[in-house]
Order: sequence, then C-alpha cells, then structure tokens
Amino acid sequence: MSIGILTSGGDCPGLNAVIRAAVLTGTKLHDLEFVGFRNGWRGVVEGDLMELGRPQVMGISKQGGTILGSSRTNPFEGGGVPRVAEVMEENGIDAIIAIGGEGTLAAAKRLTDEGIKIVGVPKTIDNDLSATDYTFGFDTAVQIATDAMDRLRTTGDSHGRCMVAEVMGRHVGWIALHSGMAAGAHAILIPERKTSMDQIVEWVESARARGRAPLICVAEGFQLDTMDDAHSERGLDAFGRPRLGGIGDQLAPEIEARTGIETRATTLGHIQRGGTPSAYDRVLATRYGMAAVNSILEGHWGRMVALRGTQIVHVPFEDALGRLKTVPEARYDEAAVLFG
Ligand code: F6P
Repeated sequence: MSIGILTSGGDCPGLNAVIRAAVLTGTKLHDLEFVGFRNGWRGVVEGDLMELGRPQVMGISKQGGTILGSSRTNPFEGGGVPRVAEVMEENGIDAIIAIGGEGTLAAAKRLTDEGIKIVGVPKTIDNDLSATDYTFGFDTAVQIATDAMDRLRTTGDSHGRCMVAEVMGRHVGWIALHSGMAAGAHAILIPERKTSMDQIVEWVESARARGRAPLICVAEGFQLDTMDDAHSERGLDAFGRPRLGGIGDQLAPEIEARTGIETRATTLGHIQRGGTPSAYDRVLATRYGMAAVNSILEGHWGRMVALRGTQIVHVPFEDALGRLKTVPEARYDEAAVLFG
C-alpha cells in the first residue's frame, strides 16, 4: 500500500514528528510505502510529490516547521475530487494522511464523503479543535509565550512600566489562559470574554498599588465590550478570514492615558509557531503519527486521531468540525481570581 502525507494550513511545532512516526511505523512494521505531497493540498492538486522514506525522516522530530511545506490551498478550488483521484491514481497512491486544522479537516471530510481514502491528524497551536483534548504545538506555543512574558516582566520591573503581551488565539484563549497563568499575569484577556476598559484599568492600578509592574496577557482575538469584531488591520487571508494582530498596540496607549503608567505592547506573533517542539509535543505528535498508520490499516476513512485523557482514539471528522473548543467560563473565572 502506498500512502501520501500532507501538512496543510498554518504550521506548528511537531508536524515533522508526526511524519517521522508514520513513516517509521509504516515501513518498519507494515511494509507500507510513503510519498510526501509538497505544500499541503496544493501538492495534491498540482501533483507535486517528494520521496518520503526513512532517509528523509531521520532525526526530524526535533525540527520545527514541516519538511513537506504547507499552504492554505483549498483542494476544491484546484479541481476537487476528480483531480485528487487522478493524481493519486497516476502516482499509485492508495490513501492520504492529512495533517491539519479545521480547514484541512473540512476539506478532507468532503473528499472522503466522495470516496477518497483519507485519515486525519489534528494540528493547531490554538488548541481549539473540539474532538481532542490537546493538539501538538500548543504546549510549545505556551512555553514560548511564558518565556517571553518572564522576559517582559524583568524589563517592566526595571522601568516600572505596564507591559502588554499579545499572544495568538483567533477564536479561543487557551494560549493566553495557560501562558498568562504560568507567567502570573495581572490580567488575561481572551476572545471568549468581552471586558471593559474600566475593568482592565482596575486590574492594572491594583497591581501597581502593590508596587508591581503590571503585566497584561491578551489574545489576538480579544474584544473590548465596545468592539463588534476582533481588531484587524492586515487584510484577509487566503480563506477570506481577517488577519488578526495588533490589539495589544490598541490597548497600551489607552491604559497609559487612563492610568498614567508608561505602557508598552509586544506582539509575539509567529514566534509562537516556530522553532523546536517541546518534549510533550514531540511525544503527542509521535503517538498521533503511529495511530494514523493504524487508522489506515483498519480502514478508518473519514476519521482523525485524537487525545482523550491519555488515550489515543479515532473520531469522525465531523466531531472536530463546526464547534470550537472554547475556554469554559469556569476556567476563566478560576484564573481571574488572581487578577489585579
Ligand atoms: O490558527 C493558528 C493561527 O496561529 C492563529 O492563531 C492565527 O490567527 C493564524 O494562525 C495566523 O495565520 P497565518 O500564518 O496565516 O498568519
């Protein structure tokens, strides 16, 4: 059996560990063969393939990014099912392992519904896919954001400034919640909870009153209670979604004007998606890669691997689609007890 692997959508640390684990398990234990599609679905519709055997995956689980490349290409804009089936047939490919987030899995579901054999592996640093407890990349992003805030704290302390750290999180605040808690932020602002400027100012002033340099952790998708949409000033992405980023820069001058405390904002951006995956993410990604091969052998088409507690399970694509795993109110309220 020959399997094509692709990585699609925004990259995240751990993609290479999935690829390595799938190739090692498949070739060592089950006599499977692999090829890589370059740059996500674009490689599928363009027939752009690369060799993918043990030599190509040697030592890559610690490497960030993806050796296959990624893109946000939608396969239905490049020929859809007939083209995908044609490329698979021309290259003797029996099934596909698609590693991606919601957009990738939605495309995978449509293709599977029309007879293409696909199994999925979930990925996103945002950790917003509802069918799995964790996605790899999240732990690494949280660690990077925490390290960054620890650094912002020392310079904030030196100057007695308020520091605003903006982290990723388009629709959900998991990165902000976890990194903000780990760094001991004086306020954490997430997309799920609109908050007033008065409340933010109260937290900042209360931290300052104790002699602290206030630290605010804000997710890119956060909205003040006066806003109708998340702040966006960078146009649209390939799927027509607004590119987020910049809410920290909006909040900082407002905080400074209202409190009189000199305030600086830092947007961490894609730094959170780059570099070496954490040990946790390498292990999770490796387990996903191995489980995806088992899915193939068992013919679980239209399913993706997922983590439930400590167990790897196989769930239908639709369980991961249409409903985001948001931060529960109770988790936010628990963290908010320590704000200010
Ligand atoms: O979905 C993951 C994510 O990192 C979001 O948090 C962010 O809004 C988006 O990707 C940025 O994507 P791009 O790589 O297209 O700038």
